[in-house]
Order: sequence, then structure tokens, then C-alpha cells
Amino acid sequence: MQFLGLLQQNPPRYVCEIGAASGGTLFLLARVAHPNALLITVDVNLPWERSMIHARFATGKQEIVSVSGDSRATGTMGRVRAALRGKHLDLLFIDGDHAYDGVKADFQNYSPLVRAGGLAAFHDIVPDFNSRYGTPTVHYTGGVPAFWQEVKTQYKTSELIEDPEQDGFGIGIVYP
Ligand SMILES: C[S@@+](CC[C@H](N)C(=O)[O-])C[C@H]1O[C@@H](n2cnc3c(N)ncnc32)[C@H](O)[C@@H]1O
Repeated sequence: MQFLGLLQQNPPRYVCEIGAASGGTLFLLARVAHPNALLITVDVNLPWERSMIHARFATGKQEIVSVSGDSRATGTMGRVRAALRGKHLDLLFIDGDHAYDGVKADFQNYSPLVRAGGLAAFHDIVPDFNSRYGTPTVHYTGGVPAFWQEVKTQYKTSELIEDPEQDGFGIGIVYP
């Protein structure tokens, strides 16, 4: 909610999310994005019905484009760039492959698309209980917290964490 409130202050016009799943965050991002926003969401093997549902999340004159494919594939990156039609992102939201190499690749491949003054954000920057205490739960943060610690040393960042003791979640914001 804090993240959405922050975005609402300056509604993003060009948004790309890596990791659509069932479209939960896509739905929320569309609620706070600019009325003319273009929102692109990427996920592996997105069925066409899911793309149709995503398109219905648009409000006002928003456009929602679902890109099906591995975010690291050159074809997927090309489809995201094509959808942007030369525009740069106001917001990149990374919530796809949570393996260290995967999240790093997503940041390296897609953050150059973010405009100066835009934002990149990571979901799941707080280590899950399995990595901290060896207690498996449904929450899985993978290599995101480790990569986030590296990002923090290289960029201006801020964190939205409700409770540092929580099991995963948390949003890390980068000002690339
Ligand atoms: C944690 S879920 C995303 C949750 C989503 N943002 C939401 O609103 O609930 C992670 C998603 O990333 C996708 N994913 C994992 N690796 C990926 C990759 N290499 N390329 C594209 N999507 C990937 C998975 O299929 C999964 O749907």
C-alpha cells in the first residue's frame, strides 16, 4: 500500500512488470498508473485467456500488453521494446525469476529501459524463513535479498518493509 501511495503521487505512464503470475500486482499498478498508461507484463507461458483478463484491468485509456516468454530471452526483450515504441519506462517492477542469476539478469536487461528519474523496484527483498531459520514456508524469496544487498551498495535506494522479521516480501526501490 505504501508503494502504491508513492506511485500515486506521480502516476507512472510507462510501466513494465516482470512476473505477472495471476496479475495481482498488475491489477494494483493499473489502479495507480496514469489514465493513459501503457502497462507491460511479462511471464513465461502466459495463456491467451490470462492476457485477455489482464487487458480488462485497464481503466480510462490505459493499455495493458501481456508478453509471454522467458524474461531473459532476446525475443521477449524485443517484444517489450516493441511495445514501448521508443518510450522509456517510468517504472520497472521486478518479481519474476527469484534465483540470484535470474533477478540479476532482469535488472541488468530491463533497467536500461528506465528513464532518468524513473524507478525500478524489486519484490521480496526480505529473506524468507527458510533461508533465515531453515523453516520452509510457502514464501520463497530465493536470491532476491542477496542481490538487493548488492544493488544497495551501487545505487540510491529505499526500502518498504513492514516488519524486518517478516517471512519474505518487502519492496526495494532503486533510483537508477
Ligand atoms: C512471485 S510470482 C509473481 C507474482 C505477481 N507479481 C503477482 O502479482 O502475484 C513470479 C512469477 O514470475 C514468473 N517467472 C519466473 N521466471 C521467469 C522468467 N525467467 N521469465 C518470465 N517470468 C518468470 C513465474 O512464472 C511467476 O508467475
